[in-house]
Amino acid sequence: MSRPRPLPQCLAGAPAHVDPAWTPQAWRGFAASQLPSYPDMQALEDTLAEVRKLPPLVTSWEILALTRQLAEAQQGRSFLLQGGDCAEVFADCTSEVISNRLKVLLQMSLVLVHGLREPVLRVGRFAGQYAKPRSADIETRDGVSLPSYRGDIVNGPDFDLASRTPDPRRLVKAHARSAMTMNFVRALIDGGFADLHHPEYWNLDWVGHSPLSDEYRRMVDAVGDAVRFMETLSGEPLHNLNRAEFYTSHEALLLPYEEAQTRQVPRQDGWFNLSTHFPWIGMRTADVDGAHVQYLRGVRNPIGVKVGVTMNADALLRLLDVLDPGNEPGRITLIHRFGAAHIERALPPLLAAVRREGRRVLWVSDPMHGNTEATSNGYKTRPFAAIRSELEQAFEIHAAHGSRLGGVHLELTGENVTECTGGARAITETDLERAYRSTVDPRLNYEQSLEIAMLIVRKRKALANGVRVI
Ligand code: PEP
Ligand code: CO
Repeated sequence: MSRPRPLPQCLAGAPAHVDPAWTPQAWRGFAASQLPSYPDMQALEDTLAEVRKLPPLVTSWEILALTRQLAEAQQGRSFLLQGGDCAEVFADCTSEVISNRLKVLLQMSLVLVHGLREPVLRVGRFAGQYAKPRSADIETRDGVSLPSYRGDIVNGPDFDLASRTPDPRRLVKAHARSAMTMNFVRALIDGGFADLHHPEYWNLDWVGHSPLSDEYRRMVDAVGDAVRFMETLSGEPLHNLNRAEFYTSHEALLLPYEEAQTRQVPRQDGWFNLSTHFPWIGMRTADVDGAHVQYLRGVRNPIGVKVGVTMNADALLRLLDVLDPGNEPGRITLIHRFGAAHIERALPPLLAAVRREGRRVLWVSDPMHGNTEATSNGYKTRPFAAIRSELEQAFEIHAAHGSRLGGVHLELTGENVTECTGGARAITETDLERAYRSTVDPRLNYEQSLEIAMLIVRKRKALANGVRVI
């Protein structure tokens, strides 16, 4: 194969992707898609100077710890649960929304730990998921054309000129709300919110009797019995059961913001994006010669890459050469999102190429983004049956090709929404108008999220027993 292989100039002892010539601004020399047009570039630069001085949201130690844990997942020793909003919005930076989202993720991870019998690595799509790619720069309604809404870090969703004009001051607000979210999540966890002795802390007030609650309750009881048994046996409380680590992630889309939070730290080579632990490259910005890839190749954070039907094997391998020249475990997570109707055709050639090249990547399924459709009453939805089908097929296909699906990437919320159709409560298209709140993509609600966790367990058990259940 005649793909050109970049030869990075490595620093002694530093990971191979650390290129001494790279700078956080270097992306500016490459074609950048999906960036807003700010009317006042000086105002943008002034704001960036301010963001550059603000304290970071995460630390390099945490980032390196996450890289090690992703390497564990890649080696089959744990399972990644990554989930949260499609788009965080400033108005939802409230104690209720943040803690409800955490509750859902904790309940899901309890189901997964109990059923899979392996550690679960928890990563939220939160504390910075404020920028969105859009299919068109301009939106037209009744003959009026305005810039598309690109997430609260760029502009507002209301359809008027003032709201839709990109405003650099929003960068500072996004940083502040990300910091408040992080602060609250860290305080909850430190204060014992994730304590396995108290799973009742994770109950959502608004959930009455749920069709899945009996099954969940049985698991909680089983975990509680196991904990008490071990503690009785050892005569002391088990350590680490009162804490759960949470890492943050967001799409590294708005490059000026990412650049302003990219720093060097003492006693470490290279640069860290300190606005999040785990940035990912969206499907629309994964061009190997584009600015987003050029930016992300230079940071030491682990990187997620969304992989859709437009990515062929050769393009994927070129991308891996650029982002991960040293084939470092934990560096790359490939998040595939093909759609239930396409995964069977699209995934196997990529698995074959990655295997042929001996690439060490963590494979994760995003069963949301390839299954979005419009209803006749004008809502963007995702049928639960399609989400379920893509996820089940993903487990099957990996297993059939000697690969391993090591995690799941979901859009979900702890709020009582009706955005995806189907699931245990059989939400219909007419139900959507009852509680549709997402500004961009439809999310799984609490019951649908728990159902996905239970489904993952059932599917993995069936595969381990050699049973085909789809
Ligand atoms: C997303 O994760 O919200 C998203 C836009 O995904 P993708 O890049 O896979 O379309
Ligand atoms: Co989305």
